[in-house]
Amino acid sequence: MDVKEFVEDKIKEIKATVRSERAISALSGGVDSSTCTVLAHRAIGENLKVIFIDDGLMREKEAEEVSGTFKDMGIRVDIIDAQVEFFEALKGKIDPEEKRKAFRNVFYTVFGREVLKSEAKFLIQGTIAADIIETKGGVKTQHNILEQIGIDPEKGYGFKVVEPLKDLFKHQVREVAKELGLPEEIHQRMPFPGPGLATRVIGEVTPEKVSLVRKATKIVEEEIVPLKPFQAFAVLLNDKGTGIEEGQRKFGNIIIVRSVESKDAMTAEPTEVPWEILMNISKRITTEIPEVTRVAYETTPKPPATIEYI
Ligand code: XMP
Repeated sequence: MDVKEFVEDKIKEIKATVRSERAISALSGGVDSSTCTVLAHRAIGENLKVIFIDDGLMREKEAEEVSGTFKDMGIRVDIIDAQVEFFEALKGKIDPEEKRKAFRNVFYTVFGREVLKSEAKFLIQGTIAADIIETKGGVKTQHNILEQIGIDPEKGYGFKVVEPLKDLFKHQVREVAKELGLPEEIHQRMPFPGPGLATRVIGEVTPEKVSLVRKATKIVEEEIVPLKPFQAFAVLLNDKGTGIEEGQRKFGNIIIVRSVESKDAMTAEPTEVPWEILMNISKRITTEIPEVTRVAYETTPKPPATIEYI
């Protein structure tokens, strides 16, 4: 792929499709949505409205950091606080696909409201090739494959979907991001799933559990930096493990640390994390998050496992 050519072609294509209408982009801060947002902004400028839906399932300080980065690039981002709606919809849901369904229903409800307000006729969406392949292959329904989940956005909300990155894999999107001048913190950002930390809480997703897994994720990300893995994160299990506190039995939470190497997320290998780093992660998690009594490192490749737990 000639990256320069790709960028020029896509800008032309978006211009020709959207013309003088308005378009909207829901930014998550990940490399895919950031890249297509910048492409669209180059193509149609102020006719692009950029929103960041704060679902309460993001990593620490993600909303502020992402809107700050885009502000520095001259792109205004409106933060839509929908945390209560998301947690309400996830209440009592245990089944992974049910959780995904609940998440995307709220996502499209909130998003639909914003589309109507903005009078946008186009949605710029950062769908990439792996999302389509996995959804069509029945591995899991990524939240952004509209037709696959029975939503006709034109009928429901009156907008058409534009997916400039749908033929690219993650490493190619990173090249495009670099070409567009996106900062390293974005083009080298680890992939983060659409349903956010909801994919990393096994069982019911509550604000308390999300807060716990968010703290653990931050520790994993900080400690694993020198290894530059494809993706590393923490997962909170739905069971308790026995621990000891001041000589007394204590039931605490169990965190799984997952770190994988991959090129396109279609297959993955566990990262060979040096023992010292694993020990630091384990020690920091159990001391900084007293509700956790056990930390384990996962060694399963993809396949047979997938990268995320839901
Ligand atoms: P899996 O778990 O299928 O993940 O091995 C492959 C890659 O996709 C990310 N992922 C998602 N990304 N929406 C997204 O935008 C989703 O619903 C979703 N589910 C998984 C995952 O983090 C990994 O990089």
